[in-house]
Amino acid sequence: MYTLDDIIKTNKTAFYVFDINVLKERIRYLKSKMPKNVSICYAIKANPFVVKEIDPDLEKFELCSPGEVEICKSVGIDSSKMVISGVYKTPEYIDSLFKEEFNGVYTIESLTQYFLLCKLSQKYNKNIKVLIRLTNSSQFGVNEEDIEDISKDLKTNEKVECIGIQFFSGTQKTSIKKVRREIEHMDAFLIHLRDDLGFTSSVFEYGLGAPVSYFEGDDFDEPTYFNEFSEIINSMTYKTSIIIELGRSVVASCGKYYTHIVDLKCNKGINYALVDGGMHQIVYFGQQMAMKQPIMSIIGKEIKTDGKEWVICGALCSMNDIIVKQMPLGDIEIGDTLCFENAGAYSVMEGMALFLSRDIPAVYMKKENGEVICIRDTFETFELNKPKYKN
Ligand SMILES: Cc1ncc(COP(=O)(O)O)c(C=O)c1O
Repeated sequence: MYTLDDIIKTNKTAFYVFDINVLKERIRYLKSKMPKNVSICYAIKANPFVVKEIDPDLEKFELCSPGEVEICKSVGIDSSKMVISGVYKTPEYIDSLFKEEFNGVYTIESLTQYFLLCKLSQKYNKNIKVLIRLTNSSQFGVNEEDIEDISKDLKTNEKVECIGIQFFSGTQKTSIKKVRREIEHMDAFLIHLRDDLGFTSSVFEYGLGAPVSYFEGDDFDEPTYFNEFSEIINSMTYKTSIIIELGRSVVASCGKYYTHIVDLKCNKGINYALVDGGMHQIVYFGQQMAMKQPIMSIIGKEIKTDGKEWVICGALCSMNDIIVKQMPLGDIEIGDTLCFENAGAYSVMEGMALFLSRDIPAVYMKKENGEVICIRDTFETFELNKPKYKN
């Protein structure tokens, strides 16, 4: 068992810590804000490391690649909780799911995917459940006309049961007005499908894209947002069970990213603090080339907000590797550890991990009983990047 102190001392490079108590408390909060007919489907792309711990707390998992499905299987997630999503569903992998006792739901994002699922359900004589994803005018999902065609076709298809419609239009959706417009549109569309085409959805799966405050000065009023969201859901005419797909909003607050100051310099009047991590390991949504200040602290020191300003730069040999500009940190030293808050969503997955062949950071988990365990060792990317000559 580790303490934070041990981890800071033993890690020569940056690392992540995910706190399961914080995460579970967050899920309790989100659930307390949802109307009764709403359950949560966790989009594991936001953070696949915590799936096992939150399995008892959440109804579904949205999985967008064979890798994500394998992660869920490896920690014992029941396939009935899996929603196999994704703009490209690797046909061989989908075929392999049909060969097993897979009992989850598939989304349909194109006619090609629809025909593939029809073919496989015939080939393996298996009944399956699907959701059709409505496009938001991007490469994802299908048009309303295609949904109408598929729903007509489904009437004669005994093997494929469409349980409803999925819709996701983007992340960090701060505008509740946009959410209202989308849900009103979906409400009317679900009614049209039922009344004009005889197609009844028993599920509406909605990617809310609930936002997270990352930066000093962000003034997003979360309780009001969720109250309005409940009001919008309750005022839907089409009564159905609602599943909201959430990633960021579930996991962001449980994660912290720690990185050590390895060098200090003043070039042409600007103070630079170099850290052993960098933009290949931590990514904030809307960071805009470090123009905003993330919420952060220095381990064992007070940040003097009227103190000396620093540009915090990562270890990559790239001028873009700036984590924060003009951050008033005061008197910092080589060896100090910086802690970046709200790093539980995407950050750990989205960095350009292989760029410059630096290490992938270790990941630790603080369990409910306070024990801190390592769940991924530091990984030396040069092993992946070095050429392996084969004849
Ligand atoms: C289909 C789908 N659902 C849910 C999510 C999760 O979004 P967020 O992290 O904003 O909650 C994503 C993210 O890309 C997605 O593509």
